[in-house]
Amino acid sequence: MSQIPESANKGLENIIACTSEISTIHDVTLLYRGYTIEDLAANIGFEECISLLWNSDLPNASQLTELKKKISENQKLPAEMTPILEMIAKAQGHSMAKLRTAVSYFGMLDTKAEDITIPAIKEKATRLTAALGTIVAAISRLEQGQKPVAPVAGKTIAWNFLNMIRGKEPTPEEEKLFDTALVLHADHELNASSFTARVVASTTSDYYSDITAAIGSLKGPLHGGANEAVMIMLKEIGSYAKVDAFIDDAVNAKKKVMGIGHRVYKNGDPRAKILKELSLQTCKKAGLEDFHKMLVRIQEQMEAKKGLMPNVDFYSGLVYTALGLRPRDFTPIFAVSRISGWTAQVLEQYANNRIYRPRAFYVGPLDKKVKPLAQR
Ligand SMILES: CC(C)(COP(=O)(O)OP(=O)(O)OC[C@H]1O[C@@H](n2cnc3c(N)ncnc32)[C@H](O)[C@@H]1OP(=O)(O)O)[C@@H](O)C(=O)NCCC(=O)NCCS
Repeated sequence: MSQIPESANKGLENIIACTSEISTIHDVTLLYRGYTIEDLAANIGFEECISLLWNSDLPNASQLTELKKKISENQKLPAEMTPILEMIAKAQGHSMAKLRTAVSYFGMLDTKAEDITIPAIKEKATRLTAALGTIVAAISRLEQGQKPVAPVAGKTIAWNFLNMIRGKEPTPEEEKLFDTALVLHADHELNASSFTARVVASTTSDYYSDITAAIGSLKGPLHGGANEAVMIMLKEIGSYAKVDAFIDDAVNAKKKVMGIGHRVYKNGDPRAKILKELSLQTCKKAGLEDFHKMLVRIQEQMEAKKGLMPNVDFYSGLVYTALGLRPRDFTPIFAVSRISGWTAQVLEQYANNRIYRPRAFYVGPLDKKVKPLAQR
């Protein structure tokens, strides 16, 4: 067998697969179209963020009004979605499998689904981005035997999502907190789900296939599924006093601690720093300070023992818990935000396309012969 070439790269670490103008990890922070995530989280809302990602810069006032109007018009789901969502909610399965199925069906309602021109993709993306929160909230409520709550015209995606999933209007502080979380999760360079979306787009398949595939990718616990896994881990540990023993056991057994580590950030994820601060304030109000203390201790222990830092999923679940949301809805919530980034990535891919087709270095046998069935 020949030597495995140095260019063979498990996990494509440090491989440049495309050029992009959308987002990048630069120095110690994350940029969307040149703006730092700290600046964006403090100063823009999610709708502005969508416009920023899909176009080359921030919207002016009339562009933002126009986008908000289009989103508001499309938050109500087509009637054909109702029986499907009722069936999906009753079915067994992971919350992201349910979302994947719902989005795939939503795409089948579009008679022009195959149109992959840039204006058509932007129009489809506006409709699906507006509808995604309504879909996630409806599935969540139907699973709990509750009736879906209709979107309210003229409200933000953040306000409507919290109102639709909880059946309770958010306070201005809750709306702002959730809106900031949506901005923080919107895009992240060539992460696994964005790469998935770009690979599917590169075959010149349709927009809904891109997004459905990306949802399947985000579902994994090594990617977006980690936010739910962090809350499950906190409940499994049980109390602050048991954190150190849990981490010792995990490190000795070489078990992954969820929400910790990152392929690119080795000195900490800037989004985790913002969410740590935001979750502290929210946890104080919600009486969840013990959970916050446990996470801080896990962070300290993992840094001391493995030199690893938290990623975006470490504190986000605590923010959502403090807002009264269920862990099984956390990863679908990630998708409600990340669809903005997936869309930007596939727009860029369609605009300057070449199909992704890497090679594998074959390490299997080369000289086998088929034996008749009776001799195998
Ligand atoms: C994010 C992640 C997938 C990056 O993976 P990666 O770049 O392939 O990193 P590796 O798995 O090669 O990790 C390198 C080393 O750190 C360790 N490590 C990485 N993440 C770890 C974690 N969360 N807990 C414990 N050890 C971890 C690995 O075991 C490995 O140690 P070793 O060199 O002693 O074998 C990985 O850190 C992880 O699985 N984290 C937990 C899941 C998570 O939070 N995902 C959300 C990502 S935003």
